[in-house]
Amino acid sequence: MTQATAEALGDFGRAVRDGLSQARKSIPARYFYDLRGSELFEEITALPEYYPTRTETALLRHHAGDLGRLAGRGRAVIEFGAGSATKTPLLLAATEAATYVPVDISGDFLAQSVAALARSHPGLRIVPVAGDFSRPMDLPALPRPLTGFFPGSTIGNFDPRAAVDLLRSFRETLGEGARLVIGIDTRKNARLLEAAYDDAAGVTAAFNLNLLERINRELDGTIPVDAFEHRAVWNDGQGRVEMHLAATRAVSFSAAGRRFSMHPGETIHSENSYKYSLAEARLLARASGWEPIAFWSDADDMFGLHVWAAAGEGERS
Ligand SMILES: C[S@@+](CC[C@H](N)C(=O)[O-])C[C@H]1O[C@@H](n2cnc3c(N)ncnc32)[C@H](O)[C@@H]1O
Repeated sequence: MTQATAEALGDFGRAVRDGLSQARKSIPARYFYDLRGSELFEEITALPEYYPTRTETALLRHHAGDLGRLAGRGRAVIEFGAGSATKTPLLLAATEAATYVPVDISGDFLAQSVAALARSHPGLRIVPVAGDFSRPMDLPALPRPLTGFFPGSTIGNFDPRAAVDLLRSFRETLGEGARLVIGIDTRKNARLLEAAYDDAAGVTAAFNLNLLERINRELDGTIPVDAFEHRAVWNDGQGRVEMHLAATRAVSFSAAGRRFSMHPGETIHSENSYKYSLAEARLLARASGWEPIAFWSDADDMFGLHVWAAAGEGERS
């Protein structure tokens, strides 16, 4: 594939070729999610160290009554990065949603999630969209106003400037009268944060390393995966947990039609997970065309569930 044109490489191939050609190697986190990556993420959500899923699920359950009142009843719900959609039934029930539009980049996994949801919700209209929510999306025509759902602190994978752009694009997509129910992880003790991204059972390590295996599978890669190790570190100055794939020895390999070399200790930066205080989350909302209207957290302030309203419409709940 040495002569591969940019077009033949596709999005993943271009991202890998460009990301590994930088002085500081990095690959965007959205490429974790092939079918295997999605399955591994699902395993992560059940780990004892991974507090976000169970905390957010409890918040959705506990505040179902207020969610029904504030997030808009009987609307179509568009979920960005739906994954297994295990939390979704709580929001659908609370808001008596009529239509559900899950968007996810992991198309095969999305098909499985939708099949399961269709079995458990026979009356619900489900219109899945396989694609990248950070690009213009082909959404079905839906009756407005709409409710967006963006759980799991997926927003944390974007640096604050890109997060504002993304949330602004969701505001555009969802339109006037929209509500956004969004889960945002909080700043907390570094030890708890690092454990959540480096579990004792090694599932997060397998999730991170699967990116290299995916490159080998899909991009004619020759990466010696056993020469890499998983690293998760809290970067206090940036307010984020960083995940890296660190070379444990000198390696050279090909991928996406190019040759690459790495020295021992050099890393591929594979994910950021930014954490936000309540004040920072509110700033994020206001900078991107949303007005915060409700916020709930657990007793230990481990995770935040927010409801935002599309700003600029002179309406508050
Ligand atoms: C952190 S997981 C969260 C999954 C689920 N919403 C939850 O709360 O557990 C991120 C999800 O978003 C999807 N995803 C990540 N980046 C995406 C993008 N740019 N476009 C569409 N889906 C994306 C992944 O496939 C994955 O299902």
